[in-house]
Amino acid sequence: MTAQIIDGNALARQIRAEVAHQTAALQARGVAPALAILLVGDDPASQVYTRHKVNDSTETGLRATLERHPVSMPQAQLLARIEALNHDPAVHGILVQLPLPRHMDASKVIEAIAPAKDVDGFHVASAGALMVGRPGFWPCTPYGCMKMLDSIGYDLQGKHAVVIGRSNIVGKPMALMLLAKNATVTICHSATRDLKAMTLQADVIVAAVGKRNMLTADMVKPGAVVIDVGMNRNDEGKLCGDVDFEAVRQIAGWITPVPGGVGPMTRAMLLVNTLAAAERAADASR
Ligand code: GUN
Repeated sequence: MTAQIIDGNALARQIRAEVAHQTAALQARGVAPALAILLVGDDPASQVYTRHKVNDSTETGLRATLERHPVSMPQAQLLARIEALNHDPAVHGILVQLPLPRHMDASKVIEAIAPAKDVDGFHVASAGALMVGRPGFWPCTPYGCMKMLDSIGYDLQGKHAVVIGRSNIVGKPMALMLLAKNATVTICHSATRDLKAMTLQADVIVAAVGKRNMLTADMVKPGAVVIDVGMNRNDEGKLCGDVDFEAVRQIAGWITPVPGGVGPMTRAMLLVNTLAAAERAADASR
């Protein structure tokens, strides 16, 4: 059996079209959804990522501004800038690009963002809301993975999902989202004793480790859904995930490619969250 590919590019395109449609509807009500992106320093990857975020937003009709600040910016100044954006009714989403310069405390900075504008879903209030099943913003990468499972009509009820990786941004929120859909969830990590014994039981595997070829074909149950969150480079410098794609696709039922899988979905979900922030603000002010 060869796995069916879950095409993240195609799904993200569809989601962007829906966001564009709903953005136009909101604009007709007099609200122009807007995202403020703050970039501190000149990390090359962050510059690329933030440019993509602005372009994606603009193409969907969302207003996005990129504020660039020097690496020497004092933290107090960044906190003051966030505070000003928190109180600006024309701004619905605030995103501080990570990593921040070493002299800054990322947790403190993220927690300065008003939870109602935390479109990255990184604030502790967003994490808490996800944990107890209250409305809030979901981190874009696991949210995108859930949309991919939705797109194949996959019913998680009673299924065993194995998440490999326990970061606050991907692994932990991913596990909570799967749990909310009534999956039985196992979180594996660097101290897991027998990873293969776990993954072989999985109906769904989410690999979010950051290590090339970490998930091999012998670790996958035939027909399983394999979602690859990894973003690594191979020896030729080509983008690749955590999954040994060519071998695992012979075993799995569905698989996400890298590139063209989770990556575009992460970008699309930021637009979804920004639109939701604007809609909630518009509804609250009615
Ligand atoms: N740096 C790498 N990925 C991300 C992301 O999704 N959000 C933010 N704020 N910074 C990042």
